[in-house]
Amino acid sequence: VISHLAILGAGAHARETYWHVMDAWPSTAICFVDDITDCVEVSMAGRSIPVAKDWRLPAAYRHFLIGVGSPASKRLLVEKALAAGLAPAPTLIHPRATVQAPDIRVGAGGLIAPGCVLTTHIDLGDFVILNLNATVAHDCRIGDFATCGAGCHLSGHVTIGEGAFLGAGVAVRESTAIAPWATVGAQAYVARSLQTPGATYVGVPARLLRGPATPPPEA
Ligand SMILES: CC(C)(COP(=O)(O)OP(=O)(O)OC[C@H]1O[C@@H](n2cnc3c(N)ncnc32)[C@H](O)[C@@H]1OP(=O)(O)O)[C@@H](O)C(=O)NCCC(=O)NCCS
Repeated sequence: VISHLAILGAGAHARETYWHVMDAWPSTAICFVDDITDCVEVSMAGRSIPVAKDWRLPAAYRHFLIGVGSPASKRLLVEKALAAGLAPAPTLIHPRATVQAPDIRVGAGGLIAPGCVLTTHIDLGDFVILNLNATVAHDCRIGDFATCGAGCHLSGHVTIGEGAFLGAGVAVRESTAIAPWATVGAQAYVARSLQTPGATYVGVPARLLRGPATPPPEA
């Protein structure tokens, strides 16, 4: 159990992550880390959670979880956290998530939220977020920094590239792949592999909405 934990971010997903951590590790002391806003504490349910600025954290905070959903923002924050000498905590597996078989590799720094189910022979990279009620079937691989929104369903043998973002309720057909840093809009059905890195896809079946706005980060 981690005694002191930094959650990177202080926005909505960070606040949710706080409560997921409280369910799993109730005695852990938590601070948020955020350089974007001016706020120095977040008040929730009668508690006041400090927000560290400029990566100046009390020495007891040596581990972190990512607390933002956007893969590009995750990457920036993780670079800063590592540069500040922090190390990722093991990815938080919420007590009401099911990670069934012992042949599932779960990386570090991410979140498996309540209601998720992962079956067998699955590889999850670092800083991956599987949000509420996502399901991941046999033989899937999910790259570092990827986010699967609430209620996503990945069939077997699906590959999600590094930094891909799947909106809420995306369903993915078996044996397909989603390109690195691609975005898939909410409620899409991925019937074929989506191959352009950084592009945005929407609809049923998922089709290209637009190409990458800026080149995706270097691998
Ligand atoms: C795909 C997405 C990223 C596009 O956002 P955007 O770049 O701001 O695009 P816009 O909202 O301007 O929409 C552009 C067009 O795509 C359509 N569109 C947007 N999202 C869509 C979706 N999920 N499915 C189908 N069509 C969609 C819009 O209706 C619009 O069509 P139009 O030009 O004919 O009017 C966004 O709509 C989305 O689905 N995000 C995921 C949200 C989510 O699930 N978040 C958290 C999950 S826990």
